[in-house]
Amino acid sequence: MKIIKMIRDTCYDLKIYLAGKSTADIKREFGLKSIVKLNSNENSLCASKKTIKEIKKNIKNIFLYPDSNAYKLKRSLAKKYQLSIDNIFIGAGGDEIIELIAKLFFNQEDEIIVSKHSFTRYSIVVKLMGAKLIVVPTDNNLKQNLIAITKVCNKNTKAIFIANPNNPTGTYNTKKEFSIFLEKMAINKFNSKPIIVLDESYFEYALSEKNYPNGLDYLKENKNLIVFRTFSKIYGLAGLRVAYGFASREIVNYIERVRPPFSVNILAQVAAITSINDKKHVLKSQKLVMKEKQYFYIEFNKSNIKYIQSAANFIIFNTLPLSGKEMFIFLLKKGIITRSLYEYDLENWIRVTIGSHKENKLFIKKINEIFKEYNKNT
Ligand SMILES: Cc1ncc(COP(=O)(O)O)c(C=O)c1O
Repeated sequence: MKIIKMIRDTCYDLKIYLAGKSTADIKREFGLKSIVKLNSNENSLCASKKTIKEIKKNIKNIFLYPDSNAYKLKRSLAKKYQLSIDNIFIGAGGDEIIELIAKLFFNQEDEIIVSKHSFTRYSIVVKLMGAKLIVVPTDNNLKQNLIAITKVCNKNTKAIFIANPNNPTGTYNTKKEFSIFLEKMAINKFNSKPIIVLDESYFEYALSEKNYPNGLDYLKENKNLIVFRTFSKIYGLAGLRVAYGFASREIVNYIERVRPPFSVNILAQVAAITSINDKKHVLKSQKLVMKEKQYFYIEFNKSNIKYIQSAANFIIFNTLPLSGKEMFIFLLKKGIITRSLYEYDLENWIRVTIGSHKENKLFIKKINEIFKEYNKNT
């Protein structure tokens, strides 16, 4: 029996998602005592104290199945965002939501549009479903080009993924750009409107950016729009796997049919409810990232390191004359985990998550050392 012959065609050459390495792995591999983890865009302030207290309080209930419909969580979200519960769905992280959308909508003859350098999970699920991936170039500053996207739409276009802000580039599209995009999509010459998936995983961090759009403002007018956000980033709950989405009642109803039962666990649900009501923690996290981002920009400028301004809690910087891979390894050896971006076609760039001031200071010290050592040896 050859397993390889039994695998579905679309799974045959799927690549394993390159998740950021764990600190335990790195310590073992490089014989390091301590590690600074700046590779997965987590919140360096962790989850809020209130949330952790609530998780502890509910640990005794883990023998029970969770509420599969997550009624209380949806009710809290509905209240916060002034929407009907029927317009809300949940998933075990944005990763599950992306997959649910693919399972629900993508047929083999469908074309799915993504921007170059956009979050890799989009292309993975397109491949998984055997649909056709259309990659649209970004503009010169690595920003998603929404007009270019409208131009490649045709009668086979089933969906478009837009991350705002995008990971890994950190760039965002403005209200004006997004409105024009939606207008152009509405009057396109094809009968069916494609599903527009707006991934706002870093929404709360981007709120301070000039003219940053809120996807929810466009929902009513655009029944083909799905907006989703996560508890993994600003809320500091990446380890619990919980995210939420907004869409028309009809789309939500179908999404619920493809979602595995109980996919969002009991602790994730209580943690999420507490987190969205803990405004203080969100504010503290926003302030820290805003301040530390300025610190990075100043230090990068001082050292003549090219970077892209980011609307999220991470920044990409150019590693030349070193390759991204080389810089990644040098940093690892010095005890700092970052994200190399070769699978995003950004071979000479590294993404660094904004951590605590102490972590960021250490990071800046280490990259300056690396560039200095390189220049001395060449
Ligand atoms: C743009 C984007 N979308 C979705 C996700 C998935 O996040 P999660 O599954 O933790 O909610 C991430 C995670 O890094 C992301 O950067």
